[in-house]
Amino acid sequence: MSHLIAPSVLSANFGNLNKDIELINRSDADWFHLDVMDGVFVPNISFGFPIIKAIKKLSTKPLDVHLMIVNPDNYTLAFKEVGADILTVHLEACSHLHRSIQNIKNLGMKVGVAINPHTPIESLKDIISDIDLVCLMSVNPGFGGQKFIENTFEKVRDLKILIEQKKSKALIEIDGGVDLKNYKKLIESGANVLVAGNTVFNSENPTETIKLLKA
Ligand code: DX5
Ligand code: ZN
Repeated sequence: MSHLIAPSVLSANFGNLNKDIELINRSDADWFHLDVMDGVFVPNISFGFPIIKAIKKLSTKPLDVHLMIVNPDNYTLAFKEVGADILTVHLEACSHLHRSIQNIKNLGMKVGVAINPHTPIESLKDIISDIDLVCLMSVNPGFGGQKFIENTFEKVRDLKILIEQKKSKALIEIDGGVDLKNYKKLIESGANVLVAGNTVFNSENPTETIKLLKA
């Protein structure tokens, strides 16, 4: 399988969201990456249900929703209702992660688990066979446009080994600071999905940048 590109809408122009949604629809991108932040789990607040619902109406590609919120279980159904196709919760935000995963699956969504840069790969060992995606944070979550953390390369390789050992089907998604300098090495290390916000939307030609990342 060739790798997937998921532009992060966090860096889009919210004054003219239709235009950027259309741009992604027409591009080589595979998914929309939507970052939901609550100002508690992360030191920033982004957007919630009304925006996701509006994007769902316009998008022709799956919605990859990344929850950076506490108590995500309280909102699983609501995210399904506004159109999430893949719902990712943070390991650090779930005291009963196995239950959170089952709740998402039972609603018919694909399920992802995100881990912060300080969280070791080993902590995924007992749930890796139950999930569709691991979102490896390559910056501390909360903001777009941050510097990529180099230790991520080693984590991708370790995660790939764990996935193979456990015969898991989980995709490896990299989130934060992905750019035209590091994307090739990430793919070579085993990444399957690249999230890119700043690199896509703050480039001169976002469509062309997506094409480059996908090539
Ligand atoms: C960070 C978010 C990312 C962010 C990535 O907390 O989870 O998805 O939008 O943005 P860039 O690609 O600009 O680092
Ligand atoms: Zn994200």
